[in-house]
Amino acid sequence: MAAMKNNLLVTILLSLAICCLVLTVGLTVEPTLTEIGLDGEVSVEASELEAVSLDFGRLSRREEKTTLALVRPASLDDVVKVVKAANKWPSFAVSARGHGHSISGQADTRMKGVVIEMGKGSGEIKVWEKEMYVDVWGGELWIDVLKATMEYGLAPMSWTDYLYLSVGGTLSNAGISGQTFNYGPQISNVFELDVVTGKGEVMTCSEERNSDLFHAVLGGLGQFGIITRARIALQPAPQRVRWIRVLYSNFSTFSKDQEFLISLHGRQASQRFDYVEGFVIVDEGLINNWRSSFFSPSNPVKISSLNADGGVLYCLEITKNYHQGNADSVDEEIEALLKKLDFIPTSVFTTDVPYVDFLNRVHKAELKLRSKGLWDVSHPWLNLFVPKSRIEDFDKGVFKGILGNKTSGPILIYPMNKNK
Ligand SMILES: Cc1cc2nc3c(=O)[nH]c(=O)nc-3n(C[C@H](O)[C@H](O)[C@H](O)COP(=O)(O)OP(=O)(O)OC[C@H]3O[C@@H](n4cnc5c(N)ncnc54)[C@H](O)[C@@H]3O)c2cc1C
Ligand SMILES: *[C@@H]1O[C@H](CO)[C@@H](O)[C@H](O)[C@H]1NC(C)=O
Ligand SMILES: *[C@@H]1O[C@H](CO)[C@@H](O)[C@H](O)[C@H]1NC(C)=O
Repeated sequence: MAAMKNNLLVTILLSLAICCLVLTVGLTVEPTLTEIGLDGEVSVEASELEAVSLDFGRLSRREEKTTLALVRPASLDDVVKVVKAANKWPSFAVSARGHGHSISGQADTRMKGVVIEMGKGSGEIKVWEKEMYVDVWGGELWIDVLKATMEYGLAPMSWTDYLYLSVGGTLSNAGISGQTFNYGPQISNVFELDVVTGKGEVMTCSEERNSDLFHAVLGGLGQFGIITRARIALQPAPQRVRWIRVLYSNFSTFSKDQEFLISLHGRQASQRFDYVEGFVIVDEGLINNWRSSFFSPSNPVKISSLNADGGVLYCLEITKNYHQGNADSVDEEIEALLKKLDFIPTSVFTTDVPYVDFLNRVHKAELKLRSKGLWDVSHPWLNLFVPKSRIEDFDKGVFKGILGNKTSGPILIYPMNKNK
C-alpha cells in the first residue's frame, strides 16, 4: 500500500514537474520578444490569441494553446527581429498571417509559436507611375493597393474575386480569377519581392536575382519566408465594365464556349473578353445571396422555366472593360463575340459598373451576408483543378450527382490556360 502511494506521489510530482517545464518554456517567449525592442506591438492577450487561431474557414480552432504571442510589426526590421529571436533558444515557430482568409488554420502556427500579423506594417504604397509598377508591404490588402494605384489611373491586371485579402496571402497561393486566362495568376505578375528568410536574413529576389527563392516563395504557402514587399505590375486602368451573364442548360456547350473564350488570350483587347468565369446554379435561392447584387432583376430566371438538364443550369460570366469615350465600339465588340457563343438566347443579362465596383463586387455580397449573420460562419470551401479530359465526368458525378439540387454555397467553374 505504502509503496503504491509513494509511486502515485512520485507520478504526480513528475507530472507537475513536466507541467512546470512546459509552462516555463512557454512563458520565456514573451520576455524574449519584449526584450528585442520591437517598434510594433506584442500581445499575449488570451482573446487576441484566440482570434488569430480562427480564420475565414472557421473549421478548426486550436484546443491546445499553440499561439504564444501575436506580433504586429511596424517595419521590416520588426519581422527580422522576431524571426531571429525564433532561431535562438528557446526556439519557437513563426507564422505570417495576412488577413486570415484561408480556411484550415493555414496562417496559424502548427507548433507552439508566434503569429506575425502583417497588417499595414510601415504603411506606404509606392506607385512608380513611369515604370508602371507598385511597391507594397506584404500585409497590404488588395483593395487598398487598387485604391492607391487608381489615383494614378493605373491598376494591377490579375485579381482574385475578393479584394479584402493580403498581397502576401494571395501570392503565397496563386491568386486566380477571371483574368487569369489572359494574364496568368497574380504570382505571374510580380517583378520583385523582399523576403525575410527562415534565418532572419532579408533577401531581394526576382526572376534574375535569387530566383530559386523567388519561385519558392510565390505559391509557397508561407513556408519559404515572409514576403515583406512585393513589386506588382500595373497597366492603365479602364473606367467602366460591361458585365454580362448568359445561361446554358447543356454542360458540354457551356464548357466548349468557356474554352473557346480563353483560347483568345493574348489577342487585342477588342477581340476577347477581359474576364471569363462561370458558376453552376443548382438552387435559385443561393445566387441571390452570393453573386447577383448588381443585376436586376436580381434573380434572372426561374430554373424551372428553362429546360435545365438534371435540374442544373450553368452561367457564363464575362466582362468587357472600356473607357467612357469608346462605349459605342464596345457594344459592337461584345455583339461580335456573343454571336460566336451558344447560350440560351433569351438569357442575356447585362449590367454596367465602374471598374472598381466590378473588382470589389464580392464586398457588396459580403455586406449583404453580414447583415443576415451569414458571413461569420464555417466555410468548408474547396478549390480543384480538373483536367479538361475529365470535366464532363465531373459535371455528371458532382454537379448533377452528389450536389444535385441540394447545396447552399457558391459553385464557381471556369477554365484556365495551363501555359499561363
Ligand atoms: C471571400 C473569399 C474569396 C476568395 N476568392 C479567391 C479568388 O477568387 N481567387 C483566389 O486565388 N483565392 C481566393 N480566395 C482565397 C484567398 O486568396 C486565400 O485564402 C489567401 O491566402 C487569403 O489571403 P489572406 O491574406 O487572408 O491570407 P492568410 O489566410 O492570412 O494566409 C494564407 C497563407 O499565406 C501565408 N502568408 C500570409 N501572409 C504572408 C506573407 N506576407 N509572406 C509569406 N506568407 C504569408 C500564411 O502563412 C498562410 O500560409 C478567397 C477567399 C475568400 C475568403
Ligand atoms: C449537349 O450538346 C451536345 C453538343 O454540343 C450534344 O451532343 C448533346 O446531346 C447535348 N445534350 C443534351 C442533354 O441536350
Ligand atoms: C430536387 O431533387 C429532388 C430529388 O432528386 C427532386 O425530387 C426535386 O423535384 C428537385 N427539385 C427541383 C426544384 O428541381
